[in-house]
Amino acid sequence: MLKGKHIILGITGSIAAYKSAVLCRLLVSAGAEVRVIMTPLAKQFITPLTMATLSQHPILVDFFNPENGEWNSHVKLGEWADLYLIAPATANTMAKMATGVADNLLLTTYLSARCAVAVAPAMDLDMYAHTATQRNMEALRQDGVHIIEPGSGFLASGLQGKGRMAEPADIVKAVEALFSEKKKSLEGRHYLVTAGATIEPIDPVRYISNHSSGKMGYAVAEELARRGARVTLVSGRTSLDCPKGVERVDVLSAEDMYKACCEIFPATDGAVMCAAVADYTPQVVAEQKLKKGDGDMSIALKRTHDIAATLGKDKGARLLVGFAMETENEQTNAEDKLRRKNFDFIVLNSLRVEGAGFRGDTNVVSLIDGEGREDLPLMTKGDVAIHIVDKMEKLIKL
Ligand code: C5P
Repeated sequence: MLKGKHIILGITGSIAAYKSAVLCRLLVSAGAEVRVIMTPLAKQFITPLTMATLSQHPILVDFFNPENGEWNSHVKLGEWADLYLIAPATANTMAKMATGVADNLLLTTYLSARCAVAVAPAMDLDMYAHTATQRNMEALRQDGVHIIEPGSGFLASGLQGKGRMAEPADIVKAVEALFSEKKKSLEGRHYLVTAGATIEPIDPVRYISNHSSGKMGYAVAEELARRGARVTLVSGRTSLDCPKGVERVDVLSAEDMYKACCEIFPATDGAVMCAAVADYTPQVVAEQKLKKGDGDMSIALKRTHDIAATLGKDKGARLLVGFAMETENEQTNAEDKLRRKNFDFIVLNSLRVEGAGFRGDTNVVSLIDGEGREDLPLMTKGDVAIHIVDKMEKLIKL
């Protein structure tokens, strides 16, 4: 669930910061990539060295590195993250978040983050119960921040009550639940997804096709539907069942897929082109089964329509996502396709990597857009679909 997720762990000045070390460890072990931001006071409670070692990255406190002037861009960090988790979150930091104060890197990053934000409050029971804190927490809730409720029990002040930060394992569970919640964030939108292999008939018995299983496209369709979108899946040949809540249109040839897509696309908010479409089809389809002779034979082929490029020409404000499966010059070829077909981004899978490609349940992909390239680790096709749809959502919100 957390594999490949980008999480910023924000640590503020509370004694509960000692639990952030375990929390960081658990997130990293679950496969997340973690970058740590600390407030200046947090450094008094837990050392940057501890957090840098556990997160495998230098920790960030200041806006720039005083040694060499290197800028710690809160905007870039906010864009990088899938989740900003502030644990522990003090009453002071939550008050500043609620009112938009931005006097340290942790807070400026909060204001520029486009991702989900969660806080795990930690403080003494009276501070927690105070109407000011409760008011600020309610404001944060209204702003869409997820509050991971503190527990009750022994507090550092010696008192007993509610205010101790949730245990690291419980915070991880809350984070996982957040990622799997799949808010109906795409409700009211409609997407076209193409998937599977096309079948180009040679005669009534034989055809030209390819190894595509359709699994990647079906996973994308399923993920879009889970987030509330209406999904029309134009599917070539596969052996998969139609995902729940998805409308499937079955096609055979590239020409059938082309016609269906041209009809459906104008009424949608975009398309994800996962199908492995034949680039060539027999010039004529023999009416009878071709008989073998003694010599060799050849079949004349003609070009099919490039469906993605056709949709790309008139896409307007619609989002268009493509795939590239390459065996050589992958970056150059993918960038060329991105431009030629007018994709917003392209998902590159290299057949040279183990665990990537056609029939398996896993994939290793890179997401490439005009700005650059993001390499994702080996993960299930379902998880790749989550990353693809997350990126689509980010682009929709721009
Ligand atoms: O040019 P190439 O086939 O490598 O491009 C791959 C991308 O274009 C994929 O997204 C694929 O679904 C789409 N495509 C298409 N129609 C074609 C060929 C490819 O939509 N005829």
